[in-house]
Amino acid sequence: MSMFLVTGATGKVGREAVGRLLALGHPVRALSRTPGEAGLPRGAEVVAGSPADPDSLKAAFDGVSAALVVLSGDVGGQAAHVAAAARAAGTSRLVLLSSGGVEHPLPHGIAREHRAAEVVIEECGVPWTFLRPGPFHANTSWWASTVRESGAVRCWIGNNPGAPIDEYDIASAAVVALTENGHRGKSYLLTGPQTLTSQEQARILGEVLGRELEFSVAPPEEVVEVFTRITGDRAAAESDVAALRSPEVPWARPTSAVRDLTGREPRPYRQWAVENAALFG
Ligand SMILES: NC(=O)c1ccc[n+]([C@@H]2O[C@H](COP(=O)([O-])OP(=O)(O)OC[C@H]3O[C@@H](n4cnc5c(N)ncnc54)[C@H](OP(=O)(O)O)[C@@H]3O)[C@@H](O)[C@H]2O)c1
Repeated sequence: MSMFLVTGATGKVGREAVGRLLALGHPVRALSRTPGEAGLPRGAEVVAGSPADPDSLKAAFDGVSAALVVLSGDVGGQAAHVAAAARAAGTSRLVLLSSGGVEHPLPHGIAREHRAAEVVIEECGVPWTFLRPGPFHANTSWWASTVRESGAVRCWIGNNPGAPIDEYDIASAAVVALTENGHRGKSYLLTGPQTLTSQEQARILGEVLGRELEFSVAPPEEVVEVFTRITGDRAAAESDVAALRSPEVPWARPTSAVRDLTGREPRPYRQWAVENAALFG
């Protein structure tokens, strides 16, 4: 039976994908830097390693027919390690969690990194599929501490309309691309079902929590400081903030990609808010 590998398996998308593959009866190997703390379902074979560690990938790819590649940190560099390990192992399918930013008209750091990862995978000779989601529903968990403390939402990405997506739908699309034919060499711009501004997401979250939340948009300079602290790269932070706050985002309107791949509508933000209400106190 084919073995499926999931990198980033303890994260938002990877965890959902592991669960979905197991539910469909597939053997799954899950990569984590700390397998003892992974908290993944018992059916998964959890192995130690990281896309940043080529030796761990050599072992992780042994006998793997298809892999969901979720990268965090040095996305381009990690993709090169993954591509080499997959090619050496004779893996026949790589599904990369890329970014909708790749299709953005403004060049920016997130797009550059993810496109670099795509190019490495395109050139490695293993058949590929790229998933390019817009912002995740789970990004609103960044609001949790201020909502708990003062009922306030401070928004970093401006207030332009977009169609954010649930991690469950990204994982479901990934599992289709991993397990079914017809997706080789294709890229999918994945969105949720509704166009919403951040303020509308805050309103929905407030309705679910039963309280009105105060909404404000952080000025770009404040967000550039935050991003620069995380990545250490001010130029990339400036370009990322400009792209994320532009009205030209590729995920401005819903696409049909989740429905086309999975045969059902993507989940609305309200469902995420209901399922994750405990985060907000
Ligand atoms: N958030 C968005 O709106 C958005 C939109 C489009 C694309 N994306 C892309 O989606 C990907 C992230 O997916 P996700 O949110 O599901 O992942 P995630 O939850 O952020 O992380 C996945 C796992 O990666 C491992 N990890 C974290 N930092 C790492 C590092 N520096 N080096 C090696 N491993 C590390 C961790 O697992 P262990 O600790 O168990 O090893 C973590 O659980 C990124 O490539 C991101 O650019 C995000």
